[in-house]
Amino acid sequence: MGNEAMTQAPGAYQQPLVESSRVQKMFGSIAHRYDFVNTVLSGGTHYLWRNALLRLVPDNPRAVALDVCTGTGDLLPLLKKKFGRVTGLDFCYPMLHHGSKKDSVRSFPLIQGDALSLPFADRSFDIITIAFGIRNLESLSAGLRELKRVLRPDGALLVLEFGQPRNALWRGLFNFYSATLMPLLGGLLSGNRSAYEYLPETSKDFPCRESFARECEASGLVVKRFRSLTGGIAYAYLVRHQA
Ligand SMILES: C[S@@+](CC[C@H](N)C(=O)[O-])C[C@H]1O[C@@H](n2cnc3c(N)ncnc32)[C@H](O)[C@@H]1O
Repeated sequence: MGNEAMTQAPGAYQQPLVESSRVQKMFGSIAHRYDFVNTVLSGGTHYLWRNALLRLVPDNPRAVALDVCTGTGDLLPLLKKKFGRVTGLDFCYPMLHHGSKKDSVRSFPLIQGDALSLPFADRSFDIITIAFGIRNLESLSAGLRELKRVLRPDGALLVLEFGQPRNALWRGLFNFYSATLMPLLGGLLSGNRSAYEYLPETSKDFPCRESFARECEASGLVVKRFRSLTGGIAYAYLVRHQA
């Protein structure tokens, strides 16, 4: 499958060694261009992917929702259309600051905090989303356990993350694009090429589909459904507490 993580035992996936402080600094350095570069590099598909993620669960105006690794907060207005109270959390102040200046985001509470040590009581949220954030965490298993801690037992965790296409030709094209053109274009548009080299570094071996499901199981969670997006470039997962 071209993805070594496919064969790993559950819980065995080790994130590439990237310190939290380096991740924080890196997002801080591209925050001012983040939305623009994202739209250019994905050809706008990231909007479709976010909508696909939220379609995994029904609307519930009484639900309390948290978007972890919210970045500039693009998921927040979409969450508000479906759920009641909505909060965003990220550890990178410049990302939150740029988000808070956007008309679509300014009304939402934004909290600066670490996904690995969430400043909330156990079982606080009905819905938790994390879009293109989970592969950045220093430890996937610690991140999943922390998300589980603050998720209500009947709640839903919605994860959107890059993966590997199953089709070899499409996978080759995507890997070529993300390893060569993306750093080049991302570097030109944001002024920080290494930030856009980080994407292929972290997504190449990140567990997807069944391997991601096994990582969830090792942390007491279960993937109820997942959708492959744009031929497997990204995946949307609906995750719940194990019964
Ligand atoms: C690729 S961006 C995704 C932002 C947003 N969710 C989106 O879909 O556009 C990843 C975000 O995760 C945040 N992040 C990474 N590790 C984190 C951690 N341990 N705690 C909180 N935020 C973190 C970064 O600061 C960055 O804003």
